[in-house]
Amino acid sequence: MNDELEVLIGNATTAFAAAGTPSDLENAKAQFLGKSGRITELMKGMASLSVDEKKSRGAAINKAKQAIEAALNGRRQALADEELAKQLKQEALDVTLPGRERGNGGLHPVSLTLERIEGIFGSMGFDVAEGPEIESDWFNFTALNTPADHPARSMHDTFYVEGGSAEAPNLLRTHTSPMQIRHAVQHVKRYKSVIEAGESMPEIRVIAPGRTYRVDSDATHSPMFHQCEGLWIGENISFKDLKFVFTDFCRTFFESDDLVLRFRPSYFPFTEPSAEIDIQFQAGPLAGKWLEVAGSGQVHPNVVRNMGLDPERYIGFAFGMGPDRLTMLRYGVNDLRLFFDGDVRFLSQFN
Ligand code: PHE
Repeated sequence: MNDELEVLIGNATTAFAAAGTPSDLENAKAQFLGKSGRITELMKGMASLSVDEKKSRGAAINKAKQAIEAALNGRRQALADEELAKQLKQEALDVTLPGRERGNGGLHPVSLTLERIEGIFGSMGFDVAEGPEIESDWFNFTALNTPADHPARSMHDTFYVEGGSAEAPNLLRTHTSPMQIRHAVQHVKRYKSVIEAGESMPEIRVIAPGRTYRVDSDATHSPMFHQCEGLWIGENISFKDLKFVFTDFCRTFFESDDLVLRFRPSYFPFTEPSAEIDIQFQAGPLAGKWLEVAGSGQVHPNVVRNMGLDPERYIGFAFGMGPDRLTMLRYGVNDLRLFFDGDVRFLSQFN
């Protein structure tokens, strides 16, 4: 092979090496191996040669052509390898990366309080009952000795929902007290024959925790909040029992024996007499302050009657406490809204 062909092979190899993409490479190929490329030109140039010369020149050109083709294929392969390597790198999974952990779930602080309340009252023999949040006017007000024109209704402004009638609308319950009636009516139904026979009915002893609603919103009031109702009805249940039960509950709940309770005279249509229950811690950041935690009282005879019981025979107490408030006191939280914002950074601290 003469120098001219060696130079051509060298030029082709350099041009192929300079091609960075498959299409650049095809363009470079055309310059050397295409229809009007260098090799074709050299072939054409042989026309004037003798037969012998054609033979040796042709063989030399062919060899050069094969060398250029080999260089082309080599470069093609190299580009394909590069492309594959690039793709592999892009799609690579780093299997050494630690997996994403699922955070641990946990109960909401108010749910923890409700569980705690249920546990403590459960140990005192109280059942746990649940009732509807959409309530009728009858259970929420009228049956609780709060007729339509009663001024106490104005403190329980709430959200009215479709269904029901103008005289008896459906509403979001403003307290858990309707559960006093609902639960007692069921109890009375269950022991109907005992009651009709004039025998002693098993006592009603129940708590009813759940969500309640009022048109109220600030740092210590939320339009949705929780209450837990308590009801104990028997033949000889007095205010003394209320004091004992609630004092025992508070001391257990707050794990403090020197917690002091105060029963402050108050008014509710469905209890008579009625009292707000305040507690006072003797130590800690809240020491010395009276903190209201529940409303309570002896169940009004009209309410006992609406339960289907004879108020001359059956008597007892009821209370309604605020689990949200209890949760704030227990954990030292000063804004109720934090409980309902759903911020996991806040909520996860309680588990
Ligand atoms: N239901 C009353 C309220 O929401 C609280 C209460 C319950 C008072 C039971 C007395 C007896 O304010």
